[in-house]
Amino acid sequence: MIDNFDITDFLKNYWQKKPLLIRSAFPDYQPPISAEELAGLACEDFIESRIIQENKSGIKWSLENGPFRESRFSTLPESHWTLLIQGLNKVFPEFDDLLHQFNFIPSWRVDDLMASYAAPEGSVGPHLDQYDVFLLQASGRRKWMISEQPVDEDNFEADSPLKIIKHFTAELEWILEAGDMLYLPPNVSHYGIGLENCMTFSIGFRAPSHAELLSSYVDDHISELTDNLRYNDPDLSGQQNPGEITSDAISKVQEILLSQFKDRTRLENWYGRFITDYLTNDENLEENELTPIEFINSYKESGRLRRIASVRVNYLYDQNGHLSLFINGTKYTLKPDTNEMAKLFCNQHIYVYEELKTLLDDENTLAFLCELFNAGYIEFSDE
Ligand code: SIN
Ligand code: CO
Repeated sequence: MIDNFDITDFLKNYWQKKPLLIRSAFPDYQPPISAEELAGLACEDFIESRIIQENKSGIKWSLENGPFRESRFSTLPESHWTLLIQGLNKVFPEFDDLLHQFNFIPSWRVDDLMASYAAPEGSVGPHLDQYDVFLLQASGRRKWMISEQPVDEDNFEADSPLKIIKHFTAELEWILEAGDMLYLPPNVSHYGIGLENCMTFSIGFRAPSHAELLSSYVDDHISELTDNLRYNDPDLSGQQNPGEITSDAISKVQEILLSQFKDRTRLENWYGRFITDYLTNDENLEENELTPIEFINSYKESGRLRRIASVRVNYLYDQNGHLSLFINGTKYTLKPDTNEMAKLFCNQHIYVYEELKTLLDDENTLAFLCELFNAGYIEFSDE
């Protein structure tokens, strides 16, 4: 639970609209990771890491991409640098649990949890993002300055890999301490500076761009459009000017294009697959071969199952009221009477045996959960 935070008020007045500072959102917050552990992770190749340094060798803002050698951290200066680590929720269950505190937003809108560790005066520079973010101060203090003024295209540093704003004027500023959190909608300029060694967690959201939507939908659909489906004009009446593309012709073309989007079932099936096919990696899943009996016995013993954080799952009700389940970019064929389980699978990420055992009396439901386990989407978790 986020403290001092009213979900209804937030959604009505702030989400995608305006910034909100939440003091003591997580009272007495203790980060589940140390600076040393973060530095250790930045040396691994399975995680995306970056170091941003200000005024390094005469460059105003420099960006280095990981993985880093351990020795890189002993050569960093006392101040003016930041280490960023992406996708921490996929590595530590504690971070995945933290991400699920934000489940008042649909899970398909959630991106990931990034940590930033700043030395004194460390910053990634004034910038804006295309997505909503909650900035949770995890340790130490950071000064955040923000501005809701639009930024001119020519007010970004040239050749900067980070799209840093050249001339930034703060409209509001706050000092955030551990447990405080700042929500920013997209396109609000922000500039956070570490006042001492400090750690910030960014809970980031995603919103597909119109270009992405169109290109994915068209890619998905195009193979079904056979070559014999063509522009036709049996109603052609003679035209005075052969060089003119008439308004009638444009209307026909428009109708051809619009008709591709009218099939709601096709749209639902594509969107479910498209939106769950995001930074997922089925190759890393650990498959199992338990029978439903073996599975339920182990489940009873362990008490809890946890969904693998990198597995993306969503469901939708189609026009006919049927439930469709999507996992990592694939539509899953549901066994009869397993809708309750499918929904639970998507709506939660921890599944307590005691809460599920009645549902699992049903043979199909048990077989279904066992199938999800065997595919590696969920694992036993006794913490
Ligand atoms: C940071 O925590 O330093 C950067 C996070 C952000 O600006 O989105
Ligand atoms: Co940002």
